Amino acid sequence: MNLIFLGPPGAGKGTLAARAVEILELPHVSTGNIFRAAIAAQSPLGLKVKAIIDAGRLVDDETTVELVRERLARDDVKKGYILDGFPRTIPQAEALARFSAVNRVVNFDIPDSGVLERLGGRRVCRKCGHNFHTIFDKPEKENVCDHCGGEVYTRDDDKPEAIQKRLEVYRAQTAPLIDFYRRQGLLVDVDARPAVDEVVENFKKALGL
Ligand code: AP5
Ligand code: MG
Repeated sequence: MNLIFLGPPGAGKGTLAARAVEILELPHVSTGNIFRAAIAAQSPLGLKVKAIIDAGRLVDDETTVELVRERLARDDVKKGYILDGFPRTIPQAEALARFSAVNRVVNFDIPDSGVLERLGGRRVCRKCGHNFHTIFDKPEKENVCDHCGGEVYTRDDDKPEAIQKRLEVYRAQTAPLIDFYRRQGLLVDVDARPAVDEVVENFKKALGL
């Protein structure tokens, strides 16, 4: 099954993807994670995208589409994938349709107030990428990942100015994808407001699992 996770920044796409990976036994492909790994490695891609991402703007379509095209050509996605953070623009969605057939688009629905609360408290493991939250999901030992012992930090794009920018960009460029995929009969809505376990249940119901 080829799945897309759509939704505003902070909706919980990455958190749910970590759970969906176990339920569906499919790999999680997150363009945000790929970009952050490139930044950490100071690769040419990382150097190119760092300032854009930190400011909450979108990386250009050409770079992003090429990255996803290469990633989806690998063997581990033959049985399917969970694509999180891509497509984020109509041209990206049109490009994706030319090299991969999407089966379902899961739209994680949450108001801005929920997003601000989640992003304001998010902490991420630098090593394994696990998401924590200062209120909803604290690591047992401060700033240390429960899963791998890595350092838990605040993403550079979780500063208030960058969060506002990401929300603006989402509304202008990504939200139109909801209708784009609804018209194709591919969209399922998931209420992303409750606690994680309940969102997992909403997700399973929406997919008929
Ligand atoms: P990306 O990494 O994709 O960021 P995003 O879309 O802004 O989404 P987030 O990762 O911020 O939120 P999320 O929905 O995954 O929420 P999470 O699970 O972490 O992209 C980053 C940047 O890369 C972009 O801004 C852009 O610059 C670039 N980029 C990426 N893809 C691109 C593309 N296709 N084109 C161009 N540029 C691209 O949860 C958030 C917090 O809430 C966590 O602390 C978590 O613990 C908590 N939480 C989650 N669920 C719940 C719950 N149910 N209850 C309570 N707390 C919860
Ligand atoms: Mg994410």
